[in-house]
Amino acid sequence: MNDRDIENLTGETQDSAERVLIVDDDPSMRTALMESVRRLGYEVQGAIDGADALERIGRFRPWLVLTDLKMPRMTGLDAIKEMKARAPQTLIVLMTAYGTVETAVEAMKQGASEYLLKPFSMDLLERVIANLKEGRESGVPQPAGIPEQRAILTQDPGMARLLSTIEGVAASQATVLIHGESGTGKELLARFIHSRSPRAHRPFIAVNCAALPDGLLESELFGHERGAFTGALIRKIGKFEMAHTGTLLLDEISEMNLGLQAKLLRVLQEREVDRVGGREPVPVNIRVIATTNRTLYREVEQGRFREDLYYRLNVFPITVPPLRERPVDIPLLARHFAAQSAARNGLPQPALSEGAIAHLQRLPWKGNVRELENVMERAVLLAGHGPILSEHCPTEARGEAPPLPAPMAPVAAPSNGSLWEMERELIFKTLARVKDNRTHAAKELGISIRTLRNKLREYREAAPPMPASHP
Ligand SMILES: Nc1ncnc2c1ncn2[C@@H]1O[C@H](COP(=O)(O)OP(=O)(O)OP(=O)(O)O)[C@@H](O)[C@H]1O
Ligand SMILES: [Mg+2]
Repeated sequence: MNDRDIENLTGETQDSAERVLIVDDDPSMRTALMESVRRLGYEVQGAIDGADALERIGRFRPWLVLTDLKMPRMTGLDAIKEMKARAPQTLIVLMTAYGTVETAVEAMKQGASEYLLKPFSMDLLERVIANLKEGRESGVPQPAGIPEQRAILTQDPGMARLLSTIEGVAASQATVLIHGESGTGKELLARFIHSRSPRAHRPFIAVNCAALPDGLLESELFGHERGAFTGALIRKIGKFEMAHTGTLLLDEISEMNLGLQAKLLRVLQEREVDRVGGREPVPVNIRVIATTNRTLYREVEQGRFREDLYYRLNVFPITVPPLRERPVDIPLLARHFAAQSAARNGLPQPALSEGAIAHLQRLPWKGNVRELENVMERAVLLAGHGPILSEHCPTEARGEAPPLPAPMAPVAAPSNGSLWEMERELIFKTLARVKDNRTHAAKELGISIRTLRNKLREYREAAPPMPASHP
């Protein structure tokens, strides 16, 4: 702790911990918030904008400031920065209508401890304040929520509405069933729900029902006693038990066979688990989230999914729209993934040309956000130190980016060539740039000359044979 902090601590009166400042230019919102926070037992003042907040912070000395993002005179972000400079001990929560990662990250950088997506429930507000209070009292301010959670970016109004609905359901114990095409962000949403629930600090356990053969999936879920079957040398705790007091994500639920579906139904009804070979059922307290990229009710109609289980799971259904239905998110996500990929690969932050954006917005995005993530990784590598141009993106003719793992085969098979092709292309582009100087190319690529030589041989050998000439 430096001197300035100590000065600030000692300068702070005991009961500053009871004062909260609400900054919002919308009078009805401000009054409503002030009233709610007052009811939680705090002394409350309101400020009409950032400049007003700065004036009040010195006199009122709140321990917590709740501030809106968009305000006249001074934006919420600038206000946060200034407030943190003047009163470093004060905790700040940003309230915003859109959950974009840029604002959230920027707010955190400027010193906000948390951000709330509008509209939020008073329950959530109360919980956030309580969390911050706890953190403060234990001496470590613990921003609740966002840090463990990868931010969900969107500028699409429909998706933003979905997020605020989810925020509401997160607080309940309700079972959530998430429908959505492959790569739309179902797992990300599931984690978001968990992170915004009262179980946030309890385990989050994910099971991919498509990844394991039936027998293995059963023992994965239910666990088994030692000696329950040949090969069961040790006792194994199942995922249901691991998720006890927390959240269990059943990914690709439609792939579970009918026998296991019956057992799952029993767990959900009885709230207890029978370990394979176990004598007594073990009680479990779990919240279940299930995802599927099939229309689950159609599976019911076709006799592949139990109707009773369907209704058990379908308590709160959510459908994540495919990326092509929210085109405003394409540039937003493209920039985000390009920035991430550049950072990972030690490249400068790339610019995204207008041409590339227009091009990306025309692609069909069958693989949705995950496909965009892969496409941007590849584009960043192809663009190298320059801006990303449309030629670094997949062509419309092909209408597809690097092929994606099918839901039944969750492990990416290199046979589809995407990674291999990407590497080959990168190597050839680098060679072209350095005019075939292999030493320079290897250096630029960060591989040894020998590896480069081996790769080139591999590419020659993999090249399709020349058509035989018939004289
Ligand atoms: N709105 C978003 N903002 C930021 N990243 C996102 C968003 N949506 C998806 N992603 C990212 O895209 C990738 C795919 O998301 P996720 O794994 O959640 O999709 P999914 O629907 O579960 O896919 P699958 O059906 O293939 O299992 C992840 O890396 C995820 O972090
Ligand atoms: Mg998934």
